[in-house]
Amino acid sequence: MSFKIIIFSTLSLNLLCVFTLAFDPRPLQDFCVADQTSSARLSGARACKDPATVEADDFFFRGGLHLAGNTSNPTGSSSTTVAVDQIPGLNTMGLILVRVDLRRNGFFPPHIHPRATELVTVLEGSMEIGFVTSHPGSNKHFSKVVRKGDVFVVPVGLVHYARNVGKGNAAALVAFNSQRPGFIFVPSGVFGTTPPIDAGFLAGAFMLDQKIVQDLQKKF
Ligand SMILES: *[C@@H]1O[C@H](CO)[C@@H](O)[C@H](O)[C@H]1NC(C)=O
Repeated sequence: MSFKIIIFSTLSLNLLCVFTLAFDPRPLQDFCVADQTSSARLSGARACKDPATVEADDFFFRGGLHLAGNTSNPTGSSSTTVAVDQIPGLNTMGLILVRVDLRRNGFFPPHIHPRATELVTVLEGSMEIGFVTSHPGSNKHFSKVVRKGDVFVVPVGLVHYARNVGKGNAAALVAFNSQRPGFIFVPSGVFGTTPPIDAGFLAGAFMLDQKIVQDLQKKF
């Protein structure tokens, strides 16, 4: 009986820890405008500048987000980030915004944001967005074609991707509920590491010829 209680309370404690650690900390004051002259960091956040010197411009980003980014690159994608470097007042707020553009057939390869849920609002065109559930589970793949005006959620920490499935350009505004969502691209995070992961081992893990693994390692 007391054993059960111990297990139960350990479990609730774990759940509590996961719950509190999975999100950026709550601010302890109205704002903590980043002091761009300080290199001090606390858990990734910037030091606050003197509140007496804070002004409206600290919470403002002038224009640009209505413009398409440059997608002349191998993935046909671009992202324009509005985070603490662009708006110092975003410091400690647990939130950033990114405009993404995908030219025809452009894509964001499978990747993970370890610290943020992602909320995608499509502004133009149509993109397929998909994510995959974690283990234990069944690697269940959820995907949706998301069109102009539609909104799709990608839960925190899951492998996901986006690709343009329309005939023209696609664009979206993406909000992340972390000041530092983190990006882990699966292809380069496995085949483009420094130093490389053993090719024979990767060949076994991916059930591929070692030659193919070595070719992939050269590409990243
Ligand atoms: C877009 O990016 C490509 C590749 O980096 C570059 O050559 C080109 O000049 C850029 N175009 C514009 C309009 O900035």
